[in-house]
Amino acid sequence: MNTELRTVSGMRPTGPLHLGHYFGVLKNYVELQHKMRSFFFVADWHALTTDFNRTELLQRHVLDMVKDWIGAGLDPEKCVIFRQSDLKEHAELSLLFSMFTPVSWAERNPTYKEQQQQITTKDLSCTGFLCYPILMAADILMYRPTGVPVGQDQLPHMELTREIGRRFNFLYGDYFPEPEAILTPAAKCPGLDGRKMSKSYDNGIFLDDTFQNVEDKVKRMFTYPPRIKKSDPGCPEKCNLFPYHQLLATPEEQKEIHEGCLNASFGCVACKKIFLRYLKEFLEPLQERRASVTDQDAMEILAEGQKQAREFAQGTMEDVRRLMRLN
Ligand code: TRP
Repeated sequence: MNTELRTVSGMRPTGPLHLGHYFGVLKNYVELQHKMRSFFFVADWHALTTDFNRTELLQRHVLDMVKDWIGAGLDPEKCVIFRQSDLKEHAELSLLFSMFTPVSWAERNPTYKEQQQQITTKDLSCTGFLCYPILMAADILMYRPTGVPVGQDQLPHMELTREIGRRFNFLYGDYFPEPEAILTPAAKCPGLDGRKMSKSYDNGIFLDDTFQNVEDKVKRMFTYPPRIKKSDPGCPEKCNLFPYHQLLATPEEQKEIHEGCLNASFGCVACKKIFLRYLKEFLEPLQERRASVTDQDAMEILAEGQKQAREFAQGTMEDVRRLMRLN
């Protein structure tokens, strides 16, 4: 454990986690908890930025997310697990940041522009959505971290976070660090249909899927569409399944599959069998751990995490208020 380093990250509780979440970010959380002081939170306020009118299942999803995290290997003895809305300090810091963050910084955010154009089923015209990255900057800078594990899609938010921190430092005195994004190397997780795995595309394999379910999904998963017969040579680089072998299979097996696919001696059905074997090995212990966590346990984990996060967050807020001459 390196005490010079610190990390923080959050996920929006929008529903069950899938393989893309695991290999994209969660796997990093699990590794980081052993290396540095780690804060991981369920970003329920951030879920409201796009779903303020659908809150029935939100707190159910919060508890499920804690269960998924524990299943995946997060250990509440090793890291702090908390719920964003329990830490009112995040709201205070976000409010203070909003005072000196130009509207144009939020508006030019590529994720904001893209989602405004692409998502037509939700009302994204609210200030909460526009100010999403300001709240995120508060979530992050509150813990003055050195690095933040996020997916590739969050890089513009990370940039804005550093800009907000720099502006604070310029206005009120040097205080916040400039945290780097911590990315998982090349975690490409195609969905069942070949597009990026995403809940909204309904193309995911979820961490809490039953094995029967997983089998059915893998059977209908696209591999490399131009390969129709087994005797047609395949193309691992363009196959939707091969990236998973790269994540799960041994190097020897990867090599065998790669060669067999190229020279058409190895078919997609056999390939899927191997994938299923590895998936089973991966999911079984995860689901067993997950099933051992009750709602009550999840709530207790959040209650304990809240205390620890607050202790740190209050320290930051005292400094911030002093630097801004609000004390
Ligand atoms: N925007 C992140 C996502 O959609 C979630 C998030 C909110 C976050 N606050 C954060 C991630 C702070 C890292 C740090 O995945």
